[in-house]
Amino acid sequence: MNNKDFKRYTVTSALPYANGPLHIGHMAGCYIPSDIYVRYLRSMGRDVAYVCGSDEHGVAITIKAKKEGITPQEVVDRYHEMMKGSFEAFGISFDHYSRTSAKIHHETASAFFKDLYEKGEFLEQSTEQYFDEEAGQFLADRYIEGTCPKCGHDGAYGDQCEKCGSSLSPTDLINPKSKLSGNTPVLKETKHWFLDLARYTEFLQKWILVDHKDDWKNNVLGQCRSWLEAGDGLQARSMTRDLDWGIPVPVEGADGKVLYVWFDAPIGYISSTKEWANEKGKDWEPYWKDKETKLVHFIGKDNIVFHCIIFPAILKTHGEYILPENVPANEFLNLEGEKISTSRNWAVWLHEYLEEFPGKQDVLRYVLTANAPETKDNDFTWKDFQGRNNSELVAVYGNFVNRAVVLTHKFFGGVVPAKSDLSPYDEEVLEAMKAFPDKIAASIERYRFREALSFVMDFARLGNKYLADTEPWKTIKDDKDRTGTILNIALNIASNLAVVAEPFLPFTSEKIFNMFNLTGLNWKNAGEFDLLKAGVSINPAALLFEKIEDNVVEAQVNKLLEAKKKNELENTAVTPEKETITYDDFAKLDMRVVTVLTAEPMPKSKKLLKLTVDTGLGKRTVLSGVAEFFKPEDLIGQQVTMLINLAPRKMMGVDSEGMILMAEDKDGSLRLLKPGTNTANGSMIS
Ligand code: 2FM
Ligand code: ZN
Repeated sequence: MNNKDFKRYTVTSALPYANGPLHIGHMAGCYIPSDIYVRYLRSMGRDVAYVCGSDEHGVAITIKAKKEGITPQEVVDRYHEMMKGSFEAFGISFDHYSRTSAKIHHETASAFFKDLYEKGEFLEQSTEQYFDEEAGQFLADRYIEGTCPKCGHDGAYGDQCEKCGSSLSPTDLINPKSKLSGNTPVLKETKHWFLDLARYTEFLQKWILVDHKDDWKNNVLGQCRSWLEAGDGLQARSMTRDLDWGIPVPVEGADGKVLYVWFDAPIGYISSTKEWANEKGKDWEPYWKDKETKLVHFIGKDNIVFHCIIFPAILKTHGEYILPENVPANEFLNLEGEKISTSRNWAVWLHEYLEEFPGKQDVLRYVLTANAPETKDNDFTWKDFQGRNNSELVAVYGNFVNRAVVLTHKFFGGVVPAKSDLSPYDEEVLEAMKAFPDKIAASIERYRFREALSFVMDFARLGNKYLADTEPWKTIKDDKDRTGTILNIALNIASNLAVVAEPFLPFTSEKIFNMFNLTGLNWKNAGEFDLLKAGVSINPAALLFEKIEDNVVEAQVNKLLEAKKKNELENTAVTPEKETITYDDFAKLDMRVVTVLTAEPMPKSKKLLKLTVDTGLGKRTVLSGVAEFFKPEDLIGQQVTMLINLAPRKMMGVDSEGMILMAEDKDGSLRLLKPGTNTANGSMIS
């Protein structure tokens, strides 16, 4: 069906786990693309429900709670609010943002499960599952890690390998380890309810690989194909878990079991729509049940199987629901050449960006769209961020709009001048302007947001070039009418630009509309010549974009590197214990408090300092490998500790008569070991 034939749209964005703050990878993955799509649809006057919410169940939450020593409820309360705030701040214009702990969601998901249960859809099976004997718990999903049987990646989870995207069962893992205790788990019998996915193979193959072969993205089709054409076919998947956090399984004999998070989370889209409809006094059902509704799921590539195979199988079985028309999944965004990682703190966090770049939400929206991982993984770098801001947003978009506004104020007192005779060049530019909205729309409708944004920038370039070519600052000297025509055209290009750029850069478009006192414009007006009428007063130029200096982005890169170093240090293992010695072995060591009298570099050595020390028993010369960490003056006069009965050793022609004791930190740097208070030289250490 053509887009025009749909009566309404239900657009969803993956429900983010409420176990941490949002970062740029989330935004690039599905929130910015879906927001662009929805803003465009609204601008086209379409009826849209754009829903999302926090995913508050599953092991992702309970692991976080355990790590922080708080309850799962505290975890989700904290991050739900935080994520909601970040989405709002970045202009992600959900019609409704719910949460899966909401009562309406528990009811909706339970009802779905019961419906399938009553239809006899589930295979009720007792199977052997991994169990951590020390923790007394079954190890579902992310409670277990091991080596991926498909790609050999070491940190694969019990439900999925993030490296190759394979969906896994805990029993698939090679060398499984419990995340709770680190122990190798044992197998123990437990009963669960499985969805027999193999029964849906034929339907899914036709629906995805035949019906949607031309309109779904290749990366999505590719993953689906590998599932649907796998030699061993689709495996039955358990829709329940042995956990105490989640939605209780609503059937007899399921005490202590909850719904699998991936059973309930997608149903969260429906619950969120219900909540929204209730608040608005609308009927939610057409948004999910009417064939004239276009359902589109925006997700990241790790969610493909759940949205293209499992959730459609559930919806189909239920029978009353429509299926998604499209599931535009993005690939992953890397950061400065490395995978974004929450645990390693290798991320650009939205709440920090907002503090460090106040008012620059559109810059990030722009960069994440211009560089979106639409067809393959992509890299975000701060250099690229700066470059795109300075040479595209500032130099092209901002410069164009600013010049049009400033010159109108300078030459016409801020009143839009009338247009008189058009030159052939004016006609040509206006024709080109007219073509942009359809071109941009066509790309958006095909989920090609990068391409659409590049057309928006071409449009801004057209405006910028028009002013550069027509030079109104020169024509004003002898032809005011001509100058008026030029500025009228430039201001109308800017108005049109603001309309078609709004889905991408909503804050900027709002500023432009405010400058021009324009309200209520939408896509249907785009391409019209006279959006801004002659005689209308406009406001002074507002700052749209500003240059970002080198030191600003350098500071961001340094911040990342520091976070990484800190993290590496925290995760570096302490050197294992040496073998046991006897007291007699220890008693042989003669360690004393000494004072450094002199210190000087050793010629031709980067590492050694030559020290003389007072041991209380006399003066000694010691060579110490500390030159990379201490200057001679740092040591002179210091009391330190020394092993004085180490056999003398000649180094670089000097006899070293003992060893200064040092502590080596995790990063290899050295620290002096000093007595806490001034102590007599020669005092024994024992
Ligand atoms: O991968 C994730 O972050 C999941 N919380 C996405 C869930 S999408 C949907 F099904 F709710
Ligand atoms: Zn793998």
